[in-house]
Amino acid sequence: MTHSQEETREAAGGVVVATHALPEPSLSTLEPDFEVRVLTIRPSEAQLAAEVADADALITLVSDPVTETVLAAGKKLKIVGQYGVGVDNIDRAAAASRGILVTNTPNALTDATADMTLALLLALARRIVEGDRLVRSGSFSGWEPDLLLGSDLKGKTFGVLGPGRIGRAVTRRARAFGMTVIACGRSPRDEGDPDDPPRVSFDELLRRSDVVSIHLPLNEETRHLFNAETFAKMKAGSWLLNTSRGAIVEEAALARALAMGPLAGAGLDVYENEPAVGAALLDSDRVVLMPHAGSATHETRREMARMVVEDVRRVLSGEKPLRAVPPESGRERLRAEL
Ligand code: 8YV
Repeated sequence: MTHSQEETREAAGGVVVATHALPEPSLSTLEPDFEVRVLTIRPSEAQLAAEVADADALITLVSDPVTETVLAAGKKLKIVGQYGVGVDNIDRAAAASRGILVTNTPNALTDATADMTLALLLALARRIVEGDRLVRSGSFSGWEPDLLLGSDLKGKTFGVLGPGRIGRAVTRRARAFGMTVIACGRSPRDEGDPDDPPRVSFDELLRRSDVVSIHLPLNEETRHLFNAETFAKMKAGSWLLNTSRGAIVEEAALARALAMGPLAGAGLDVYENEPAVGAALLDSDRVVLMPHAGSATHETRREMARMVVEDVRRVLSGEKPLRAVPPESGRERLRAEL
């Protein structure tokens, strides 16, 4: 870039670093006014710190470590725009202490994630993955009375852990399948919202639910909320669904609960040490595994890209972002959640 080009960009608004290309039109709409740099590697903490040295805005994914070191290196950073709703990869306290705004993309992915939650449940209840394997292997030899018997959803109790936006969208769907929904979460029930399920305590939810579905943020106190002790309180033959964050569930304890009880199965979109998945889960026939694809629809990802870019443009133009994430501590969040 020539000196005069640099001056023009500088005057127009600065440097935007995106750790990955996004569905268009999004980053391209910034190009006339900003210098947009899209990384071609999955950055480590050190690589990200080097990349943000001259950046005014950083656009990140859930897999990017936006640590204190990265934020300290971004001397000119004004905004970290997360392409996603969960922001547990970003040190929000460190961002707040430097006056760096954090934004995310709520609402956009609510329905897609709720759809994925029910897709995992249907796959478990009706043994879709096993059936697909059986047909492809050539072992389907005709209708049999007891071939791949599953379970009805109708009449089952569905426990929503975290009845926020996604938890309520899941509630609507679970009820459409004839399930009774109970929930445990931070906010008191909103009687005016027909999708907001009745509240019970955490222990009652574990004891009564045939299906427990996690819709919580990951923070220092929800980490390993599901451990050996938690699984011991769950109903025999129940299913666990997780489309939120893998580290809320201790994977070794989950594997034991699947092998020894009480769990009949688990539908997982997220993993404790993502992208690694433990051998015990990979070898289990009782789990349905997806590669963190809850928001992976064309429509949803386009909307997420539009939202994150909109807030970057606003902040670099001196306006308030539409979707700022408050710099809460993990401890405050948990007390509020359960
Ligand atoms: C997103 C997610 O796809 O939004 C989230 O919190 O976990 C995913 O559904 C991901 O964050 C994209 O970066």
